[in-house]
Amino acid sequence: MAKITFDGIEVEVEDGTTILNAARKIGGDVVPPAMCYYTPLKGSGGKCRACLVKVTAGSAKDPRPMPKLVASCVTPVQDGMVVENTLSPQVLEARKGVVEMLLINHPLDCPVCDQAGECDLQNFSYDHGTSATRFEEERRTFERQDIGPLIQLHMNRCILCYRCVYTADQITDKRVHGVLGRGDASEIGTYIENVIDNDFSGNVIDVCPVGALTDKTFRFKNRVWFTKPVDAHRDCPKCTGKVVLWTRGNDVLRVTARKNEYGEVVDFICNECRFEKKEVADWTIEGPRHIARASVISANHYELPVINPQIIADLPESTTKELNLIPRPY
Ligand code: SF4
Ligand code: FES
Repeated sequence: MAKITFDGIEVEVEDGTTILNAARKIGGDVVPPAMCYYTPLKGSGGKCRACLVKVTAGSAKDPRPMPKLVASCVTPVQDGMVVENTLSPQVLEARKGVVEMLLINHPLDCPVCDQAGECDLQNFSYDHGTSATRFEEERRTFERQDIGPLIQLHMNRCILCYRCVYTADQITDKRVHGVLGRGDASEIGTYIENVIDNDFSGNVIDVCPVGALTDKTFRFKNRVWFTKPVDAHRDCPKCTGKVVLWTRGNDVLRVTARKNEYGEVVDFICNECRFEKKEVADWTIEGPRHIARASVISANHYELPVINPQIIADLPESTTKELNLIPRPY
């Protein structure tokens, strides 16, 4: 086991754990953002630098600071390590630069992008970016490309995080797309426009942190914040069948895998569940999906704010009735 101090908080983790996962063990606001690291995907991380942190002491044996900021998602902890994230002005400044860099080629088309409202880059730039850019050159532009009948690649928006490549590599048996070219010429390509026709190919949509890979059955159907997400399941011979249905009225507009608090898919789902089961009758509904209050998706939704039950108990009954306050776990 290794004991590290992260933003002044001590945490003990298994040897070999990365700094990012040690921070996730603490949880809350101290956790560094991640745009390319994805727990279920082997080899992910180390591409975007969103998760940079400052190591002010390398280990108990060698307490010298590390000379540069390090990517927390690929740097293992050492016993006695001291790490700063939100406490380091240098990290916060560097992160602004990372946002600026990621937005160099990324279009600012959020008002018409299908990913708006649930885009990791939107959240990342809102939390860590600046309102201006120093980039004066033209952005790279590409034609939209259909990857089979169900998925569309909008390469302009891609931040080359490699998540979709690892997903296709690791959970389908035939990957036909990858990153072609290097440096400024890098792009996601399907090479002679092969289609991804594997049963699990739709998962590349869920892992994409931006709107570069979109579900063609949902494109332009609705804005995500107008939909109502519910957990549902079905008996599926190919996958766990545990999904989120994004509904409006009685219509199922979209089916996605369930994600954890870090936006990572919990169970990858098959294409039949994702693209072919668009009737409420196909599913057993479990109940409303919990969406973080900070998310735009939760705006005007049915979930009430979490209030300490003791506070509600102390209020006069007329007030709790008038405000419709219901005690919920705190
Ligand atoms: S298409 Fe999406 S998931 Fe794939 S590399 Fe680009 S940003 Fe990442
Ligand atoms: S999340 Fe660590 S480099 Fe991308």
